[in-house]
Amino acid sequence: MRSTTAWRTANSGELEPALIERRSLRPDDLGVRVDHCGVCHTDLHSVRDRTDGATVVPGHEFTGAVTAVGSGVTRFRVGDRVAVGNIVDSCGTCAMCRKGQENFCHDFPTLTYGGTDRIDGTPTLGGFAREYVVRDRFAYVLPPALDPAGAAPLLCAGITVWEPLRALEVGPGRRVAVVGLGGLGHLAVKLAVALGAEVAVVSRSASKRDDVRRLGARELIVSTDEAQLAAARERFDVVIDTVAVAHDLSPYLRLVALDGTLTQVGYLGPATVNTTDLLIGRKSLSSAGSGGRRATAELLDFCGEHGITADVEVLPSAKVNEALDRLERGDVRYRFVLDMSDL
Ligand SMILES: NC(=O)c1ccc[n+]([C@@H]2O[C@H](COP(=O)([O-])OP(=O)(O)OC[C@H]3O[C@@H](n4cnc5c(N)ncnc54)[C@H](OP(=O)(O)O)[C@@H]3O)[C@@H](O)[C@H]2O)c1
Ligand SMILES: [Zn+2]
Ligand SMILES: [Zn+2]
Repeated sequence: MRSTTAWRTANSGELEPALIERRSLRPDDLGVRVDHCGVCHTDLHSVRDRTDGATVVPGHEFTGAVTAVGSGVTRFRVGDRVAVGNIVDSCGTCAMCRKGQENFCHDFPTLTYGGTDRIDGTPTLGGFAREYVVRDRFAYVLPPALDPAGAAPLLCAGITVWEPLRALEVGPGRRVAVVGLGGLGHLAVKLAVALGAEVAVVSRSASKRDDVRRLGARELIVSTDEAQLAAARERFDVVIDTVAVAHDLSPYLRLVALDGTLTQVGYLGPATVNTTDLLIGRKSLSSAGSGGRRATAELLDFCGEHGITADVEVLPSAKVNEALDRLERGDVRYRFVLDMSDL
């Protein structure tokens, strides 16, 4: 076991610095120095909506450098730049794992935090820490072209929108609308634009119009304006909904074109759907989350080739509580990334 400093939940509802233990390296483990970790809305949910009182160290999109390798590791060496996302293990043998969809493992994938290690049964503690120990299969080479702070959010926000974009064959000639311009949303825009699609943003905020253009989208549809929503009826083959709270899906289903799909990746939980909204136009409703190892590596290659990283505001990790408060207020353009060098 080795100790490292981390930000963990406290009774105050804030995160506090603490010493935590990381396991000793197994033959297929890497020790990783965490340099940059993105702040995902899921971290906010996990800090603010805790019901069981369990201690959480959030953080599941990080980049850093390999500091130690287990005896059986061949793909990495000490000093390599690596990236780690929100899954750190899976059974490796079920039908989903065999298809490269470890994110849908029948035995449930081990989450980077709030999960349970498959070998020693200890709770996993996340990347708001100076060090992490990860099985080498779930670490990715960080392409040299990518800035490590801007690349960190690719490992959760990016891959969560990349898999559905690819599965729904987004590319030239396809019309895509991204609902909610936050961490997931702004990366969905960049990726869909780079894939060659015609992209629009649906946001509550008309003040994001300049950003919408800069990100490469063609238009902003203000979701609080009924007339703008009505004018956008059935115009999109794919609508990616990244809104972070429970909401009515019907206004967004109405934007979907004949045989198109609304993919709901933001709010995960019960939703009521009027099937007539699907019937009219033979529409589909889908969801997705995280990504398999193959798709994650593909995303990083694609971003390396196209120079895509998140728009980030980098803060020292000591400002983590301020970052969470501002994320809760929607005061972020478009991802906070914590610089862990102060730990
Ligand atoms: N499926 C997965 O595996 C997965 C992975 C990562 C995250 N998530 C979830 O995805 C959601 C988005 O995460 P994120 O990190 O992108 O969050 P974020 O940066 O806060 O962005 C969410 C966006 O949703 C919109 N929004 C927020 N509150 C709203 C409200 N009350 N009404 C209407 N729109 C609202 C806002 O867009 P506008 O202001 O532009 O309207 C906001 O920018 C979270 O719920 C997170 O837990 C899921
Ligand atoms: Zn996340
Ligand atoms: Zn599996």
